Amino acid sequence: MSKIVINSSNPLNGKVEISGAKNSALPIIAACLLTNGRNILENIPDISDIRVMCEIMQSLGCDVKKEGDSLIIDSANSKPNIVPYELTGKIRASFLVSGPLIARFGKAKTALPGGCSIGTRPVDLHLKGFVSLGCHYEIDDGYVDISGNKLTGKVIYLDFPSVGATQNIMMASVLASGKTVIENCASEPEICDLADFLNKCGADINGAGTDKITIYGVDKLSPVRHRIIPDRIEAGTFMTAAVATGGRITLKNVNLTHLSSVTSKLSEIGASFNEFSDELTIYCDRTTKSTDIKTMPFPGFPTDMQSQIAALLCNVKGTSVITETVFENRFMYIPELIRMNADIKVDGRVAVINGNSKLVGAEVSATDLRAGAALVIAGLCAKGRTIINNAEYLKRGYCSFTKKLTDLCADIYIEE
Ligand code: EPZ
Repeated sequence: MSKIVINSSNPLNGKVEISGAKNSALPIIAACLLTNGRNILENIPDISDIRVMCEIMQSLGCDVKKEGDSLIIDSANSKPNIVPYELTGKIRASFLVSGPLIARFGKAKTALPGGCSIGTRPVDLHLKGFVSLGCHYEIDDGYVDISGNKLTGKVIYLDFPSVGATQNIMMASVLASGKTVIENCASEPEICDLADFLNKCGADINGAGTDKITIYGVDKLSPVRHRIIPDRIEAGTFMTAAVATGGRITLKNVNLTHLSSVTSKLSEIGASFNEFSDELTIYCDRTTKSTDIKTMPFPGFPTDMQSQIAALLCNVKGTSVITETVFENRFMYIPELIRMNADIKVDGRVAVINGNSKLVGAEVSATDLRAGAALVIAGLCAKGRTIINNAEYLKRGYCSFTKKLTDLCADIYIEE
């Protein structure tokens, strides 16, 4: 297992190029199954979750080639093969092939995706949408076997604005007959990017980015070239690290409209910004102060930034309260921060941080992707040396993370 070693660092300083969004690339790779030819996807991040998704696409008969930061995905010969647990267990997004397979072939059989430490992560809302469109399914031996020929559009209400369920239902309905409306759907930028890709392919989708999406079924979709949006969570992670170390960094290749809730919260804490086109410079020229965070579906503060900002608030004088409303178990990183002298008390979905203690380096372990990012931020602003075990988690979602931080003057390296 690889580990990351951090010596208390100077303030971060310099420029960092933000990569393409993991959580946009994964559904769009799956959506290539809806076309019967060669798609070119640009700005794909070089991370392990993408590599697993490409293996899944190959297991379904797609031809997948990597050319620089582009993927060439030819789905002309794709088939609704069974997707095995050894693949679906690695990434939650594996279940996103179900919608396209049902739409194109009338069936899909995949092992249920693994849960992970942040929650059980059921797929009941996905399945409810498929049934509304006319599908039947059975769950047996850990596999979901779904069938549904001649899908018919319907009005589908989501009990929770689930990102994955919105994406899967959108993909299942693009070739259905008639009109589908998804109400109380997710409005994340990754939903809009998927809708943009599908509309380029010939779909007829309106309302992406709002809480109601309307899809008019079409006969077929054709392959296209598409550039993935920048990763707003990677950007937020670097911004938070800059504030935590009292540094000044410029992020290149960002979409400023995707960062509003994060820039607003970091500004409350004490950050200042210069924003121009697809660049953002962040620095801290004021005394930082504590604040409260409540994670919400977009456009609220993202749950994927919760652990990173908690790490920052451990070193900010005063009391900060963090409320996690999206996942039931997303404080797994807190015992690790406490090992670094953090003063945090957890009660259910609420964490109370007393920022008057100073973080001290220690040996800790990452429990999931964003927890790992939080421990890196803590290590960058702690006194002494921090060793982070299970560093593989970071490779799932951050492209060249330690290299980008080294280029920003951090004293950090990875031991394979
Ligand atoms: C996506 O996961 C992201 N992953 C997650 O990012 C992100 O945290 C999450 O959206 C919320 O923004 C990808 O896009 C690959 P959800 P997803 O369905 O789609 C419950 C990261 O770190 N729910 O919006 O799985 C669920 O249990 C990852 O990059 C149901 O109850 O999230 C959770 O409590 C972590 N039934 C809530 O909804 C369902 O059928 C939000 O889940 C589906 C979801």
